[in-house]
Amino acid sequence: MIPFDTTKPLLVFGGPYSNLEATEALRRRADALAIPPSNVICTGDVVAYCAAPEETARLVANWGCHVIQGNCEQQLAVAAEDCACNFEEGTECAALAKGWYPYANARMSSEMRTWMGALPETLHFDYGGRSFRVVHGGTEIVNRWVFQSERDVLAEEIARAGADVVIAGHAGIPFAARVDGSIWFNPGVIGMPANDGTADVWYGLIRAIGGELLLSTHRLAYDHHGAAAAMRRSGHANGYARTLITGLWPSLDILPPAEREATGQRIRQRTMRLGATTRPRELA
Ligand SMILES: [Fe+2]
Repeated sequence: MIPFDTTKPLLVFGGPYSNLEATEALRRRADALAIPPSNVICTGDVVAYCAAPEETARLVANWGCHVIQGNCEQQLAVAAEDCACNFEEGTECAALAKGWYPYANARMSSEMRTWMGALPETLHFDYGGRSFRVVHGGTEIVNRWVFQSERDVLAEEIARAGADVVIAGHAGIPFAARVDGSIWFNPGVIGMPANDGTADVWYGLIRAIGGELLLSTHRLAYDHHGAAAAMRRSGHANGYARTLITGLWPSLDILPPAEREATGQRIRQRTMRLGATTRPRELA
């Protein structure tokens, strides 16, 4: 069981995706909020689409925060041939992965592969009187896509997780959903925009205040032009370089209909509150 400082927030985030500029910006935000590395949790996929795989992995490793394995860490740790992102063959995402994954795989040091291979697959802890579980995709399937609109998938996953709050990553769009008195909290990713037509990236905060727990999603503006320029210089995955500027994903193939229809619609920052004895309720 991990001890956290409950007098300070937890900062939770997913998918740095080799985006060094965004990861540096997030670390500056954590410092500005006076959140120590021991209260910071990354849900994995430190290395993926963007230009700086080795540098981003080193930044996160040296930060000293908690990190679990995503499918990308599991694959890169053993120098596997593909990312195992669960993209369907023939889709734009699958085609792009044939560019960025070999690029990243060719640039990882043995030191960073060893670091990735030693990361845990999940975390369990208590914070603010609630039990938490951290997963990458699904509770048992590392690359499962779990989105807000798919209530049956959420219910199945939460039933398996065995925690009051599940912190998850992989899917790339921030949301907090209540299911059967528990919460599935995906704080979004910091390495790629959330397909809402803005270049901002996302992280989450969890605060214990007066017996209540507050889970909130937050935008982060950063040097996205610099990150996109670095990708163009790298010569791979320019579809994702455009995404860093436009805030629109190069393909919607992985999205359920509701999330697909929300393409280009600005996502609001939200806070969900869990009372000490009441069921969770959502605030604006
Ligand atoms: Fe992933």
